[in-house]
Amino acid sequence: MLNSPSQIESFDTADLAVRLRAIVARIPTGLVFTSSFGIEDQLLTHHILRQDLPIAIVSLDTGRLFPASYALWQKTEEHYGVRIRSVQPDGEAVAGFVARWGINGFRGSRDARLACCHARKVEPLARALAGASGWITGLRADQSGDRGAVALVGHDEARGLPKFSPLFDWSRAQVEAGCAQLDVPVNPLHAQGFVSIGCEPCTRAILPGESERAGRWWWEQDEARECGLHVGADGRLVRA
Ligand code: ADX
Ligand code: SF4
Repeated sequence: MLNSPSQIESFDTADLAVRLRAIVARIPTGLVFTSSFGIEDQLLTHHILRQDLPIAIVSLDTGRLFPASYALWQKTEEHYGVRIRSVQPDGEAVAGFVARWGINGFRGSRDARLACCHARKVEPLARALAGASGWITGLRADQSGDRGAVALVGHDEARGLPKFSPLFDWSRAQVEAGCAQLDVPVNPLHAQGFVSIGCEPCTRAILPGESERAGRWWWEQDEARECGLHVGADGRLVRA
């Protein structure tokens, strides 16, 4: 029994398996982990599935992901023998975006980009988390300055949920080493400089010395480039 009291460790550890069990001990039902199939998410998926934890895994299929990400989705399902729930954008919302801004209109302005992210990611996330009692993410604090305050336990104001980021204090190198050690399938794009991977038209590889998220919406000048999944109703990154 993984969750017997003798095996419920505290949050005071960097051990991912222990942390996940501690989260489940606190919230035994209704936990949802959202995965984009990035390297952090793959490590979390591994520990959730290998420990058979009662945490639903959901991915937001924006419809604009890299072919390599869809391939990894399939490979992950085969590797672990599971089906990962897909949440799709509302067709009318996407059609409305395309009618107003154009099929690739997200390049035109920040407003257009946020409208696309809202239709393809933020609104679907609300459905992915409907009825959930807690949200688990693969956020790390050192991914960007704006994510510096990400903590193990936070609160998502927009959705009124406790929000857990079990890798908050892990480095990229630690996550990579963890995946290599456990033979976790990862996106081959990572090895080509695509460090943070989102939708294909809005992600590029980074250059040596660039910050981890420099390849996301790279044409925008604003440093705080977020899609809205991890910001509050006021548009600011939600702090713990
Ligand atoms: S994003 O907000 O810029 O897209 P990022 O790609 O860094 O976020 O991922 C951070 C976390 O947000 C992931 O670990 C995952 O929990 C969640 N996330 C991001 N994109 C998706 C997606 N398409 N589907 C599910 N979860 C996602
Ligand atoms: Fe649209 Fe780009 Fe946001 Fe994906 S990342 S939802 S394509 S604007």
